[in-house]
Amino acid sequence: MPNAGGYFTTFPQTAMNQVICPDLDTLTAQALMLIQKRVFAAIDQQGRATLVLAGGSTPRRLYEHIATQSWPWHQIHLFWGDERFVPPDHPDSNYRMVRETWLDRVTFPAGNIHPMPTVPLTPEAAAAAYEQELQAFFALKPGEFPVFDVILLGMGEDGHTASLFPQTAALQVCDRAVTVGHKGNEPRLTLTIPTLNFGRCVIFMVAGANKAHAYRQVTAAQPAGEQYPAALIRPQGGDLWWLVESTVLQH
Ligand code: 6PG
Repeated sequence: MPNAGGYFTTFPQTAMNQVICPDLDTLTAQALMLIQKRVFAAIDQQGRATLVLAGGSTPRRLYEHIATQSWPWHQIHLFWGDERFVPPDHPDSNYRMVRETWLDRVTFPAGNIHPMPTVPLTPEAAAAAYEQELQAFFALKPGEFPVFDVILLGMGEDGHTASLFPQTAALQVCDRAVTVGHKGNEPRLTLTIPTLNFGRCVIFMVAGANKAHAYRQVTAAQPAGEQYPAALIRPQGGDLWWLVESTVLQH
């Protein structure tokens, strides 16, 4: 992949690609290039692309940049990696964040947008509903997991990713694609570890010196496992990219 300002290393032992970027703008540009390449390849090969979106703040600028592109929106389907358990118009909603930064700025087919349901369902019922939506969309047989073309993820300073938080029950769920995660007592919906690990291309976007400790733990030769859940994301057949702002490595 061309490195417009980032430099590229591969960790062969973990099939992990690392791109170190001097700033968030460069990281965003790298992410845009990589996503475009993989989305367009998926469309060429199968007539559509499935893209899982990350929440939080790091990808905001990326979504704003994607909104300026002339991509074939009708051939792209959007899903969410996790969602806070709030109404879709709530300030904390990851769905609302994507609407504001991207979807309200382009003509995106409503049927191609697959947000995670939240209230008034219970968290358990919402997880089950999203599971059924994925089963229908991917025409899954019992026991099969969805295979997404691109999965975007962030990482918190505690090493969580999506809403898979350290030492929580969600980390043990391996028979479903979607489950209820917990940030303390706050319920969230999240894709499960096996679902993330079936991704064809999993891309972490990590910025901020406060992520440095977790990043060291996650990328260590002996990853830290459940204390830092992002370490559990090792795509089996797909490739793994860590797009990292240089401040993450300087502390
Ligand atoms: C969320 C995200 C979460 C996020 C990390 C990093 O719902 O908040 O899915 O996993 O990616 O917490 O967040 P920042 O990008 O804001 O640092």
